[in-house]
Amino acid sequence: MSDYLWFEGIPFPIIKYEKEIIEKSCDKFVFRDEDIVILAYPKSGTNWMKEIVCLIQNKGDPSWIQSVPIWDRSPSIESQRGYQLLINKEGPRLISSHLPFHFFPKSFFSSKAKIIYVIRNPRDVLVSGYFFWRKTKYVKIPESLTTYFEWFIKGNVAYGSWFEHTRAWLSMRKRDNFLLLSYEDIKKDTKSTIKKICDFLGKKLEPNELDMVLKYSSFQAMKENKMSNFSLTTKYGAPNGLDLLRKGITGDWKNHFTVAQAEAFDKVFQEKMAGFPPGLFPWE
Ligand code: A3P
Repeated sequence: MSDYLWFEGIPFPIIKYEKEIIEKSCDKFVFRDEDIVILAYPKSGTNWMKEIVCLIQNKGDPSWIQSVPIWDRSPSIESQRGYQLLINKEGPRLISSHLPFHFFPKSFFSSKAKIIYVIRNPRDVLVSGYFFWRKTKYVKIPESLTTYFEWFIKGNVAYGSWFEHTRAWLSMRKRDNFLLLSYEDIKKDTKSTIKKICDFLGKKLEPNELDMVLKYSSFQAMKENKMSNFSLTTKYGAPNGLDLLRKGITGDWKNHFTVAQAEAFDKVFQEKMAGFPPGLFPWE
């Protein structure tokens, strides 16, 4: 059975990752002022955000998103392939990362590069992760949701504890080069969120261009776009195929948690996320 690649106490997926690369990306990766980073704990809507930003950069023209796989448009700084693509790319880069805050390349903090950080109800993150990872050979496979629930609470899942990951990254939320968004708010009003992202990135879109961004980043459009729906994942990584676009809704956890699990999760959330202002987490 696949397990994890453990790096300084954090479990990483076993395929596509190497200790030396994670080490290098932490220590040596040099940010450029024009770089844009999409950062999220896995299953929070990372790829949705990538699609939106790719479309904004192309004023709604879908040619790029329909011809280049999503992982090459916005390579992951901590994966083998992503790291190589990024260090060899000239000019502004669209970068993605799930790295915990304390592993993030230090050069970011002396650059003007921008981070778009997406959070999502961790209960939905848990359910989404359970259904996604079990189709892959990237991680240790839980035998049931109950098992995965326990691992998630303890932080023994890919990229470690959601609570620690989120707490640490949220410490950045008042910086000018950091935009905090939630999956829930993007769902509720995608158009306003796209405008917010444009303001943050200093991009101006005409109303028809904005409509194109909205259209091509919709759940249905992404589900049908083979460059974005993960159907190009190798058989080695996912022998029975992989579908990123599972349900795309908020609150699916209610269909999967028992009453006892819901109560236990509430308790852990209150304990671990104490101290943040009310309203920061739109799902609470
Ligand atoms: P579900 O499994 O709940 O459906 P990530 O990209 O971080 O791995 O997140 C994957 C989650 O984002 C999946 O959630 C997926 O369906 C959802 N998602 C991706 N694109 C989306 C879109 N255009 N609209 C709504 N949800 C989307």
